[in-house]
Amino acid sequence: MKQALGSKTQALGEAQAKLTRVVDLGIAMAAERDAARLMEMILLGAKELTNADGGTLYTVTPEGLAFQILRNDTLGVVLGGSSGTAVTLPPVPLFEPGGALNHANVVSHAVHENQTVIIDDAYDSTGFDFSGTKVFDARTGYRSTSFMTVPLKPRGGDVIGALQLINARDAQGKTIPFPPAIQRFVEALAAQAATILYNLQLLDEQERLMDSMIQLIAGAIDSKSPYTGGHCERVPELATMLAEAASAQTDGPLADFAFTTEAEWREFRIGAWLHDCGKVVTPEYVVDKATKLETIFNRINEVRTRFEVLWRDAEIERLEAVAAGIDPEDASRLRDARQQRLKDDFAFIAECNIGGEFMAPDKVDRLKAIAATPWVRHFDDRLGLGHEELKRFTGEPAVLPAAETLLSDKVHHVIPREKGLHKLYAGLGFKNQVPENLYNMGEVYNLSVGRGTLTEEERFKINEHIMQTIAMLENLPFPKHLSRVPEYAGTHHETLIGTGYPRKLSAADLSVPARIMAVADIFEALTASDRPYKKAKTLSESVKILSFFKKDGHIDGDIFDLFLTSGVYRRYAARFLLPEQLDEVNISAYVTRPADETEPALT
Ligand SMILES: [Fe+2]
Ligand SMILES: [Fe+2]
Repeated sequence: MKQALGSKTQALGEAQAKLTRVVDLGIAMAAERDAARLMEMILLGAKELTNADGGTLYTVTPEGLAFQILRNDTLGVVLGGSSGTAVTLPPVPLFEPGGALNHANVVSHAVHENQTVIIDDAYDSTGFDFSGTKVFDARTGYRSTSFMTVPLKPRGGDVIGALQLINARDAQGKTIPFPPAIQRFVEALAAQAATILYNLQLLDEQERLMDSMIQLIAGAIDSKSPYTGGHCERVPELATMLAEAASAQTDGPLADFAFTTEAEWREFRIGAWLHDCGKVVTPEYVVDKATKLETIFNRINEVRTRFEVLWRDAEIERLEAVAAGIDPEDASRLRDARQQRLKDDFAFIAECNIGGEFMAPDKVDRLKAIAATPWVRHFDDRLGLGHEELKRFTGEPAVLPAAETLLSDKVHHVIPREKGLHKLYAGLGFKNQVPENLYNMGEVYNLSVGRGTLTEEERFKINEHIMQTIAMLENLPFPKHLSRVPEYAGTHHETLIGTGYPRKLSAADLSVPARIMAVADIFEALTASDRPYKKAKTLSESVKILSFFKKDGHIDGDIFDLFLTSGVYRRYAARFLLPEQLDEVNISAYVTRPADETEPALT
């Protein structure tokens, strides 16, 4: 009796030790955030509990039960998990070729039935097909004997995988059947593990969904405009390359900067993906405004029609003069002179409309002189207008026929800014000047634009994308580990000297990742080859222009230098630039500290 009591006490002690181990493993597993490491922890924990020689962890996939982790002490097999070597075995089919449930395989059976299966000796088993195991044994000289297969089922969910343990051993290392008493310990561990793994998988799926949604937004913005297509996709690539180079620095000005966790990298990548998300609300005709008179369409066609009217007026005047007894030759000369002037004037207006070069004051004077050319309108200019457009026509309609000028700035050309619209931006610290009007479509006003094609209002509308980006992102409930996304996304138009927008931040306000974003944004825009209106710049031209940003204090000089000395510029160029853009860059001409080695030529 004493002996019986003693063995009972020993069994109780062992059970308590195992229970404690299950609880400890549960606590450790709950803290794990990496699915591969968690799966390894589950398998090794179960192996330890049962003193099994080997084990496999499978997960349910559309292809079947995929091998995730494989361990065998006797054979020294360590595959999957943290081993760095993936398991390459084909998945165990969950279904027969005809579609019936696969009950022949013990793992598939345990999954379908949600039941633990214990087999004392696979070679005596008649219920399951162990032919694969036998082939394995014949090849390796191993003897797979006892098996314990436990489904992984999270609370309230479907079975997500299975744990299979092979060859339980006694204290002397002899292979024995799995003791029935151990089953509930392994099941308790499996139940906890399955719930934790399931939650991790859910989290992972949600992260992947969120990443895809973010990339969908970036892709939508990129596809809005052929002029900037691919920008939102390439900026994160370049920004990540630069951040990697900066993180790798162990001395110099960037030695203190490093992203150390995957969460920090993800936060930065998301910021980079979303850096121009505000462009979803930027009207395409402003982003792509190719000529000064363009609104939704290029209004030069409308202006040309007015020239056609004046051309005919000249012809009519000649006919009227001849009818009134004026010498036909004199009348023709007058008409020819007038028509020649119209041709010259139209050519001049058309040239102004292109907007490439600087509009000198004398050109503006000539534009205004031509604009004043009178013509007579016989039709009501309010007929056929939309409700909103009609609202912009104030006062009584002019009596017809009405005197008009060839080009004009009219009240209805001005689209006022709605009051209170900028509540969206309240409290966000924006300091850039907001023009009084939303748009001004005045013809002379637009044709007088000094450089490029955009009016002050349209320039603001373009720049407003960053205000929108910030306003949108500041309103999103980012979790703590993504809380810097608005900062990373919203600072790429700031400069170190406080001349940027929208917050006029300066060096002290700009973190290393924010500075990286500015360099990546500018360099992508400089080198982009998918701008239909301009030839892509070469690599050396782009680096040279970027060096001016450094010289002017707009971008961080250390990051610019690192961009060159680390070779990131060259690696980025090799991936994203056209072969004809790839030329040699003499980086020693730009870096503050000359590079240690001479850059190899780009090939
Ligand atoms: Fe931007
Ligand atoms: Fe950008």
